[in-house]
Amino acid sequence: MKGKILVAGGTGYIGSHTTVELQKAGYEVVIIDDLSNSNLEVLDGIEKITGVRPAFYKWDLKDLEGTRKILQEQPGIDGVILFAASKAVGESVKLPLKYYRNNLTTVINMLELMPEFNMKGIVFSSSCTVYGQPDPQYLPVTEEAPIKPALSPYGNTKQINEEIIQDTIHAGAPFKSIILRYFNPIGAHPSAEIGELPNGVPQNLVPYLTQTAMGIRKELSVFGDDYNTPDGSCIRDYINIVDLAKAHVIAMDRMLENKSDQKVEIFNLGTGHGVSVLELVRTFEKATGVKVPHKIVGRREGDIEKVWANPEKANKVLGWKAEVSLADTLESAWKWQLHLREKGIQ
Ligand code: UFG
Repeated sequence: MKGKILVAGGTGYIGSHTTVELQKAGYEVVIIDDLSNSNLEVLDGIEKITGVRPAFYKWDLKDLEGTRKILQEQPGIDGVILFAASKAVGESVKLPLKYYRNNLTTVINMLELMPEFNMKGIVFSSSCTVYGQPDPQYLPVTEEAPIKPALSPYGNTKQINEEIIQDTIHAGAPFKSIILRYFNPIGAHPSAEIGELPNGVPQNLVPYLTQTAMGIRKELSVFGDDYNTPDGSCIRDYINIVDLAKAHVIAMDRMLENKSDQKVEIFNLGTGHGVSVLELVRTFEKATGVKVPHKIVGRREGDIEKVWANPEKANKVLGWKAEVSLADTLESAWKWQLHLREKGIQ
């Protein structure tokens, strides 16, 4: 065994794929998740892929005492990867206190517990949302681009969390941190045993698209074709979920093996390529042979026109690179949607 890792939010979309990659790399994984946006069947999927069922605790990390008890039951955890968070942008505007309470308390509790249990590092899942709409000279976005005022309470929690981690480490906390700023994670594990399971009507592009292709939704609304982009639709950097998961393993190795003198490091995780909504729809149709009924509608409030990563720092310093093509990634998302149909889940 390489070491023992706590994956907070490990049954969620990114957490489950990361658990698989950690186990494949030889780590032992303990998951804590309150199942507020995931379910226990995810553990079956992880076990099918890796042959190992991670230890699991259904628990709310906002409860400090209970979390401490779990950590006492699981001695020897070397590091934590913190995914557990509420993440629906629209909901955060309506329920800001839910977002501040969930996303801030969880981080504060974890940082408080880490020294007690001698944990050496925390990988934190942040988001490109911290850059807002970068000014043209900052595209593609590097980690040095200015942080813009958040457009939603969700985005604000990511910014505040980054600051909480940095302040705690600057104050002398005995651990390291790697903050990963994700661009737009999409797709599913190629086995289709795990993937994204949106709650209710999907808010994000790819789950809505695959549900439309399946006939669950009538048509996909493309939010705006009058942006200042080549085809008028918004541009994002869509990153394969397994590629993204692998970066967490590298980040954890880096901290546990003391490969860097820096106590806090920040990395963008993206492909470096911007793709428009309409291009993505076309790529999906070509890759799967399945048509996606879609129509252009008005802009979605709060949407950023265009953003994509400069991932050079992660490429050079971590030795990590996004590898899976957009077409293969969209095919994996489709395979996962087919798997959900087989299981009778819509
Ligand atoms: N889009 C559509 N139709 C849809 C859904 C989305 O055209 O039905 C467009 C959006 O307008 C946007 C692009 O597809 O141009 C991507 O939208 P997503 O909702 O999938 O993702 P966002 O780029 O809006 O990112 C948001 C937050 C991130 C967060 C991410 C995942 O800004 O912080 O969702 O939850 F990480």
